[in-house]
Amino acid sequence: MGADDPILSVRGLRTEFSGDRGDVRVLDDVSFDVGRGKIVGLVGESGSGKSMTALSLMGLVPRPQGNVSASSILLDGRDISKLEPAAMRRIRGRDIAMVFQEPMTSLNPVRKVWEQVGEPLAIHQGLGRSAIRKRVLDMFDLVGIPEPKTRLDAYPHQLSGGLRQRAMIAMGLICEPKLLIADEPTTALDVTTQAQILRLMRDLRDRVGTSIIMITHDLGIIAEMCDEVNVMYAGQMVEQADVFDLFERPSHPYTRGLLASIPRATVARAARRMPSIPGMVPNLAKLPPGCRFAPRCSDAMPQCQRPPDLLPVGVGHSARCWLHSAGAALPEGEMR
Ligand SMILES: Nc1ncnc2c1ncn2[C@@H]1O[C@H](COP(=O)(O)OP(=O)(O)OP(=O)(O)O)[C@@H](O)[C@H]1O
Ligand SMILES: [Mg+2]
Repeated sequence: MGADDPILSVRGLRTEFSGDRGDVRVLDDVSFDVGRGKIVGLVGESGSGKSMTALSLMGLVPRPQGNVSASSILLDGRDISKLEPAAMRRIRGRDIAMVFQEPMTSLNPVRKVWEQVGEPLAIHQGLGRSAIRKRVLDMFDLVGIPEPKTRLDAYPHQLSGGLRQRAMIAMGLICEPKLLIADEPTTALDVTTQAQILRLMRDLRDRVGTSIIMITHDLGIIAEMCDEVNVMYAGQMVEQADVFDLFERPSHPYTRGLLASIPRATVARAARRMPSIPGMVPNLAKLPPGCRFAPRCSDAMPQCQRPPDLLPVGVGHSARCWLHSAGAALPEGEMR
């Protein structure tokens, strides 16, 4: 693999759930790349499919209700999209690790933190207790846990929220994964702690070269952290761009809507929530026939009754919108 090849390359990811009321496709043809040592954002309103994307990549979508398929998911050049659950377990925590929003729910309250943080080493590398303890100590140091030695034997409730999240990041990184997925990693934290954790993650990328998928509602976090951005809407990618292009030239009306109510001068500062766009995210079981955003879009045209493709609007910049397609020039009634 060349140094320029992405560490992760997802093509045609599709995740469906079957239930009493039929099948619901929660991810539809999701494709994106994560460059080596890059921080790539996934942003979108609640229910747009951000966490589902992460869970699908991790092989953590519940079966048999959920069904994940993809043309390919190349992790460092290896296609992991058709792996059996046992093979996926070997990848999880070793090659791809995940940090969740609320560390308390992912930590066992009655086990010491070092045992939990070090568990991936026991699973994937078969290390003994003293080697694991030593490695956890190093990781605590790396993620800036003060007095790391005394924290090894703490129980989760004895750590503050910020320290718990640092411990979770230590656990995510302990096997030196190729990719770390952080799903709203700071949402449960106060603003100061949030800024510290974000600084830590950026720092780790700079020092260790960790490639990170950063999932967030918060465009301030995107502006501050990310190199590339993927905007999701109703289970699809609707815009992909590098972070400067996205803020300078938002091309999808949805992205523009997200950006519109943020005063430009403050975009680079953290801790803003996603502004609201009038209307609701569509019910995935009853999607409009064409563009999924059309019912909320002030630029909607007759063409929007057909689904637009995700097409280039600039170098490394794509949008799923008829405004940027040749088809948009067709007069009303003359649909291809
Ligand atoms: N077990 C499930 N069965 C059926 N549908 C599900 C299941 N889990 C999630 N979904 C649906 O998948 C869609 C995407 O959910 P997802 O959790 O990925 O959204 P999200 O973008 O992470 O939102 P949030 O910002 O609220 O975390 C939603 O419509 C959700 O209702
Ligand atoms: Mg989510």
